[in-house]
Amino acid sequence: MTDNDAAPGRILLVGIGPGDPAHMTARAREAIAEAEVVIGYEAYLKLIPELLEGKTVVGKAMTEELDRVEAAWQHARDGHVVALVSSGDAGVYGMAGPTYELLLQRGWAPASGDVAVEVVPGVTALSSCAALVGAPLTHDLCTVSLSDLLTPWPVIARRLEAAGRGDFVVAIYNPASKRRREHIRRAQEILLRYRAGETPVALVRSAYRQRQRVEHLRLDTLHEAEASMLTTVIVGSSATFRQAGLMVTPRGYTAKYADGAPVAGERRGQSLSLGLAEWPAALRAWLREQAQPSLAAAMQRFDVPWGSALAAVADEAAEPETPYRSSPIDPADLPRHLQECREWPRVQGVVHGAGGTRMVCSATGAGLRWEGDALVLGAGGGRVEVDWGRVAEAWALAGACQHCSLELVDAYGDALLSLERLAGAGRS
Ligand SMILES: C[S@@+](CC[C@H](N)C(=O)[O-])C[C@H]1O[C@@H](n2cnc3c(N)ncnc32)[C@H](O)[C@@H]1O
Repeated sequence: MTDNDAAPGRILLVGIGPGDPAHMTARAREAIAEAEVVIGYEAYLKLIPELLEGKTVVGKAMTEELDRVEAAWQHARDGHVVALVSSGDAGVYGMAGPTYELLLQRGWAPASGDVAVEVVPGVTALSSCAALVGAPLTHDLCTVSLSDLLTPWPVIARRLEAAGRGDFVVAIYNPASKRRREHIRRAQEILLRYRAGETPVALVRSAYRQRQRVEHLRLDTLHEAEASMLTTVIVGSSATFRQAGLMVTPRGYTAKYADGAPVAGERRGQSLSLGLAEWPAALRAWLREQAQPSLAAAMQRFDVPWGSALAAVADEAAEPETPYRSSPIDPADLPRHLQECREWPRVQGVVHGAGGTRMVCSATGAGLRWEGDALVLGAGGGRVEVDWGRVAEAWALAGACQHCSLELVDAYGDALLSLERLAGAGRS
């Protein structure tokens, strides 16, 4: 602890914005003015020379983040006010995280009284780059850094997959360096699994700095672009469009209103007809309109997990003409239901695999049994197994064409096993 009993030291984690002083916040400027010591990556310090006069300046190389934190901690413990600067926002791939991590490891706490810490927010690259290309972030978005210096590539790839599947606008930080040329191409490959080739993409290099460059292109030509350490890549969602040189992601107004009035089925100021409370009714209405209703087709059309489709046709909510009806099975009651299945003359087990594969196995009801932690149907080559630990929900489903089944679903709502009674008779 410091032996300076006067004012405690302070660490100000200052985000200086994209580079142009005009885009630095007033508090960031004030915080640097308050500091006696300014610590940062040399290239960032070069962006703010006029703010450094009369200060002790500690410039560090790019990879020396922990040295910067250590230096800030030491100066602050000596009772100094230290500004530790990050580009953009210190809390977005910046120095705020490593600083808190190190201080907490050292036993520091916000109330410990020896060193005070303040995070001074800044304009992150995401916002500054977006401002230069139009309005690409006006709907759900996420950021992914392609730097594998501290994050394993399989983790980065999984996040890109999730971003693609979730139809987020994706802002890619750290897209490339001299050493990392391949990463952006891999990211493009992953996102192209979920997005059309013509999806608008913007590359912004050195936003609000001297060498600012903005490039508009499509997702399928992203690999041709020159990305660098100073570039942020913004990949549009399926709704993002480019017009008159602008990249825009709609908020959704034009889908809900036409000529100033809500379109058919929608109400001003109310959730959409596919809002949280409303979408199950929309799914049931769609099922009722189908000549050959299929709950699996409804699941695909509404892009919901199987568990959600089952819940949408739950008995208590479903209208009398709804072609499918489900009822949730209390986990404590499940053994009794499985015993009923064992009494069926024949059971068909359907397992839904990734990518739409479907494995079907039929056996006598008595062929349904427990083997260790697995529920097993059939034998030899025609055998399906479900890890019982993964079963999170079960539903009884009665549907079109006398269809009758017991549905086992995992914690993500994905179908694990469907046990159908064969021969068209209802469950006894
Ligand atoms: C270590 S991260 C720092 C992010 C920063 N803390 C922020 O909030 O913007 C470095 C990455 O941020 C992005 N970046 C930072 N400043 C930028 C700028 N002026 N123009 C474009 N991208 C920038 C680039 O993707 C770069 O590789």
